[in-house]
Amino acid sequence: MNAIELRALSASYGPYRALDSVSLAVPDGAVVGLVGPNGAGKSTVARVCAGLVAPSSGRLLVGGEDVTGARPWRVARAGVASLPEGRGVFARLTVAENLELSFARWLGPSAVPDAIARTYERFPMLAERRRQRAGTLSGGQQRLLSLAKVLGDAPRVVVADELSLGLAPAAVDDIYAQLAVLHAEGTALLVIEQQTDRVLALADRAVVLDRGTVAFDGVPAGASPVLARILGVTAG
Ligand SMILES: Nc1ncnc2c1ncn2[C@@H]1O[C@H](COP(=O)(O)OP(=O)(O)O)[C@@H](O)[C@H]1O
Ligand SMILES: [Mg+2]
Repeated sequence: MNAIELRALSASYGPYRALDSVSLAVPDGAVVGLVGPNGAGKSTVARVCAGLVAPSSGRLLVGGEDVTGARPWRVARAGVASLPEGRGVFARLTVAENLELSFARWLGPSAVPDAIARTYERFPMLAERRRQRAGTLSGGQQRLLSLAKVLGDAPRVVVADELSLGLAPAAVDDIYAQLAVLHAEGTALLVIEQQTDRVLALADRAVVLDRGTVAFDGVPAGASPVLARILGVTAG
């Protein structure tokens, strides 16, 4: 079964077609890396997977269930935990308040205490800092908090858009360690990155997106030459 699948999916911003008949799938438990140059449409894929952008044609399936055009909460309920690009934390709220708000919104108030307890087990760093304002955490800690916020209810698939963007190498290590734990637990991951080495090392499969279309879909080692060719063409 595929955790999430885009089937011949197109999406537009007004007259501009950002995705043109994109097909890609993340099988249950697998890690798929989605890479490609700036403007390729990676974040649009992430927004489609979150229910934030409705496809103009094609299908979005989550665990085999057709959720094409469904609202974000419905897509989340189907099992997608989504971290859209640049999605952060509420800087003036504490770590605990950030988690409570997110879990209450996505899981309902009654699920909050259990979700918080599981989060503190998974992220002892957040437990230690539960009363600290999120804005005073380091960049890497804030990124981990933003990841923790969407993991309340053991999602079927995590879609993460440029989680490592702007972080120091040690903080990127922490993020990828958490992704590896999720993978070991059987959570499917769609990891979107421009900085490709890290994601290709973790991924079972790689998809290269270029100008809204799939330029490559296969073993991670096959992605780099395709990407280099695209970047070479772009540079020339
Ligand atoms: N809100 C928007 N309105 C109009 N065009 C957009 C919008 N968001 C993205 N685009 C355009 O869609 C294309 C794909 O963008 P995006 O999915 O953000 O690419 P990537 O994440 O790979 O850099 C780009 O050409 C971008 O300029
Ligand atoms: Mg992007």
